[in-house]
Amino acid sequence: MQRIKSLSDYFKKYELSEKDPESFWSEIAESFTWKKKWDKVLDWDFEKVNINWFQNAKLNITENIFERNLKERGDKTAIIWEPNDPSESPIHITYKELYEETCRFSNALRAKGIKKGDRVIIYMPMVPEAAIAMLACARVGAVHSVVFAGFSSTSLADRINDCQAKMVLTSDGNFRGSKTIPVKPVVDEALEKCSTIESVIVLERTKQNVEMINGRDHWWHDCISEEPKVCESEVLDSEDMLFILYTSGSTGKPKGVVHSSAGYMIYSAYTFQNVFQYDENDIYWCTADVGWITGHSYIVYGPLLCGATTVMFEGVPTFPNVSRFWDIVDKFKINQFYTAPTAIRALQAHGLEPLKNNSLDSLKVIGSVGEPINEEAWHWYHDNIGKGNCPLVDTWWQTETGGIMISALAGITPNKPAHASLPLPGILPVIVDSEGNELLGNNVQGNLCIKFPWPSIVRTTYGDHQRCINTYFSNYKGMYFTGDGVKRDHDGYLRILGRVDDVINVSGHRMGTAEVENAINEHEEVIESAVVGYPHDIKGEGIYAYVIINSKSSDDTIKAEIVNVVRRVIGPIAKPDKIQIVSGLPKTRSGKIMRRILRKVASNDFGNLGDTSTLLNPDVVEEIINGASL
Ligand code: WT7
Repeated sequence: MQRIKSLSDYFKKYELSEKDPESFWSEIAESFTWKKKWDKVLDWDFEKVNINWFQNAKLNITENIFERNLKERGDKTAIIWEPNDPSESPIHITYKELYEETCRFSNALRAKGIKKGDRVIIYMPMVPEAAIAMLACARVGAVHSVVFAGFSSTSLADRINDCQAKMVLTSDGNFRGSKTIPVKPVVDEALEKCSTIESVIVLERTKQNVEMINGRDHWWHDCISEEPKVCESEVLDSEDMLFILYTSGSTGKPKGVVHSSAGYMIYSAYTFQNVFQYDENDIYWCTADVGWITGHSYIVYGPLLCGATTVMFEGVPTFPNVSRFWDIVDKFKINQFYTAPTAIRALQAHGLEPLKNNSLDSLKVIGSVGEPINEEAWHWYHDNIGKGNCPLVDTWWQTETGGIMISALAGITPNKPAHASLPLPGILPVIVDSEGNELLGNNVQGNLCIKFPWPSIVRTTYGDHQRCINTYFSNYKGMYFTGDGVKRDHDGYLRILGRVDDVINVSGHRMGTAEVENAINEHEEVIESAVVGYPHDIKGEGIYAYVIINSKSSDDTIKAEIVNVVRRVIGPIAKPDKIQIVSGLPKTRSGKIMRRILRKVASNDFGNLGDTSTLLNPDVVEEIINGASL
């Protein structure tokens, strides 16, 4: 794997990637194992959104994780698994063992009729089998779609139906902190609304009682018991789908972001190696869940492609106490630690006491992902966790980008607090104003677009290509629009300012305001609702809902019910933090809700509400201000 070694090397590689992207990427691709090499490096069109990397090449990503690594790293630990309960022993799985377990499960998938192209849902806790499930799908050419195990049965059913999945991989239950959460019953409930699922494979984790439906449901251990530890890998085309991952947008239901096989492989591995500057004997830990893109690219695929040792943690940062993260860092002598600003802020709130028994001196690199990291959290993380001598990589990227796009390279790019800093080689960011004019030079601020394809760019949104075109490639012609605002400072360093669309980022989780509104509106006494984000000390953004009701119940009862409806329809992560019952919403004469005003009120920023003269119902603004729940 090509490795950038210095700042001047970075600038050199960046220049090459800009001038001659095809030679730049083909040189990197050479270090992978191909069943057949490509005819052409790149063909692309941002109008019809047709992007083709490594045309006609054939491969299997798991050959690049296993066969390519086994000879030198067969006995090296691939995954260290730390269970929820620290008194349960961790598990170390070597590359050879992971290979064999993946093969056994691949055979089990084939035995249940799974073929290349079939969609398989993974709804599992953070256990090694979740990674094995992903890899086994990839080995047999099935398309996995991991659904975060905290999502509700309705959300799960929506995803199953959208991609017409044939199988669900799940567990009996899930240990999270002091709680034992049922998982299989959620799947059962979801499947009442789904007709495409033929079988369900259930991993035994919590050993709680679950109902197994004859003919449909099978235990994981039974499925693999007779299977051999070898399994021929399926031949995939570069552009064959590797996985679908659902993510929220500003409108409608979550979209199935589609990633391809070759481009995703190359980009996740290249960025892992270079951003974290992983050395052969390092122990790397990313605290994300495999249900999000961070878990896909930087717990499973990127690290394993690079032959790294990657830690998977089943639990939560606060169990059995708030020292847990730091205890794990010391326990495994973690060298690279990658987490979200929301976790940093939550732990920062407990002060330095929880750190007093931890040395943390194995750490070489610390990373941040998921939302803008505020300066205060940046300094706390840098000073107290990195002890002032670990480079902090603030990595900006998205589900749709597949891998890190803008970030410092650890120890190479000078650190600048709260700045994602510079684009990776091959990434051509542009800042545009609302008319789409490119803002050149430094000291400019606008919307962030990318004007050239990179290998792991989203290929389509599953089942609806037009939606992909409309969402990402129509706002600014010829460019991929990220939905984020950005500032280029006087040094040319980039600082991400947050979303400029109707997407809110709660604890690093993306939520569409429309999606939360639809959930709220399912309450039968709700007439209309409007949801906005507001600054929240720990979560980054909180969810503020304005709701019009037709009800005789007390406001408190209704508010509690609304919270429950959202939990049931989406999941606990989408629960509104604040609910204000209102008699109307500020609307323009054409009936559009003026969210700008709602956002200002929710943010306790009444000073300048801007022009309200075009409002149909200006009186309601005063009512909203007076009743604001701050
Ligand atoms: C949105 C993407 C990419 C993995 C996790 C989130 C925000 C992400 C940063 C960062 C500022 C960030 C953006 C982006 N975001 N990383 N380092 N600094 N903002 O993936 O759920 O697809 O969300 O997260 O707003 O658009 P996602």
